Amino acid sequence: MIPKDILYKIVEAGILAPSGDNCQPWRFKWDGQKLLLLNVPEEDTSLYNSRQRASLIAHGAVLENMDIAARSYGYSMCPTLFPVRQGASSKGEQSPLVAAIEFQECPREDDPLLPFMTKRVTNRNPYKKRKTIGKEVIAALTSIPEETGLGELYLTGKAIDNSPLPWRERVRVRGKFSDDLRLLAKAVAIHDRMLFENENLHHFVFEHIRWSEKESLQTKDGMPIKTMGLNPFQAMAFRLLGNWALVSFLNIFGLSRIIPFQSYKLCLNSSAMGLIQLPGTTPEDFVLGGRLLQRVWLAATKHGLAFHPMTGITFLIQRLYLDREPGFSEAHKKLIEKAWGYLRNVFPVDKSKGIIMLFRLGYAPMLLARAPRRTVKQILDIDKNDYINYHINAHETTL
Ligand SMILES: Cc1cc2nc3c(=O)[nH]c(=O)nc-3n(C[C@H](O)[C@H](O)[C@H](O)COP(=O)(O)O)c2cc1C
Repeated sequence: MIPKDILYKIVEAGILAPSGDNCQPWRFKWDGQKLLLLNVPEEDTSLYNSRQRASLIAHGAVLENMDIAARSYGYSMCPTLFPVRQGASSKGEQSPLVAAIEFQECPREDDPLLPFMTKRVTNRNPYKKRKTIGKEVIAALTSIPEETGLGELYLTGKAIDNSPLPWRERVRVRGKFSDDLRLLAKAVAIHDRMLFENENLHHFVFEHIRWSEKESLQTKDGMPIKTMGLNPFQAMAFRLLGNWALVSFLNIFGLSRIIPFQSYKLCLNSSAMGLIQLPGTTPEDFVLGGRLLQRVWLAATKHGLAFHPMTGITFLIQRLYLDREPGFSEAHKKLIEKAWGYLRNVFPVDKSKGIIMLFRLGYAPMLLARAPRRTVKQILDIDKNDYINYHINAHETTL
């Protein structure tokens, strides 16, 4: 049986994983034999989270972190995904049980990505213009899908030089990067426009902004304003933009068409943009996609690259094509279709596949603030005596 102090450490590593707006849609339960990973749909009720896909990606990232940490403690992790099928209802709801995880002793193994779990962040700062990514780094990132046997990773941008590279099986590094980045920037800008025109999206995002350190420490979730990549003046203006009535009024004068220029520029000035895709659209695909995403993100961190998901638009696209009542106005449906066109012009995306994430990559100063996490105690349901053992042993084990 896995010692409980190690189990805590593994969960602690797991929850360093990213999640949409840092909503942390996970809970854990120790059933005496297995560790159960549960989804909490109430944590993300946004239009982004169609069929819990955004949350399942986050669960995949949690599992990848846990796997890396478990091996470093001499345990191999064997997760069974969605073991309770009968929990699914006719409405297409999934069982909240994402994985039942067994641990077995094995020789200790330090994954090269282990030290980067605590360093990985979402870096929303502007990236250094015109900085290219070296060949070796591109090769290291693009080899991950093959190494893991998971999914597809496409990259485009100022990689290497301007000479076009041929298509490889799962990898694309193109020479005409500026055209690609412009198209992707347009798709991202459509999302940002919708963020200020659709009340559900606006509410979800602003509900998760933490305006002070105190608020961040209290809630232990959401995104501290200091992680939003804004200068002090922009941060002040951003606070006003949290007022939906004001935003709706200012939209009469074109506000929602001006704001997206910021993220448009961020995309254009990045070294590269990438997309991760899985061959199917089952819940398992999204969890496995989250695992792949986490390895790519950790590897990017290892190579000194800043990483920023800009993927709201891919969730809106998937929602439009999945849900009979997606909750968008007719004008917004047309905009989303336009964004799909931009995306398709750059990457070989396909409606029958699961888009996991669109992101930008580049070089930027390190972040001074971090998004908080709930404590293990808040999210792990386990016998109270085990907590006592954990706190006694906690100082002896370090990640
Ligand atoms: C599925 C998913 C989608 C995300 N989408 C976005 C996004 O569109 N824009 C963004 O700025 N961050 C996005 N993020 C990053 C989260 O906001 C971030 O992981 C969270 O706030 C925790 O911060 P950290 O990654 O620095 O630990 C996404 C993360 C996940 C897992």
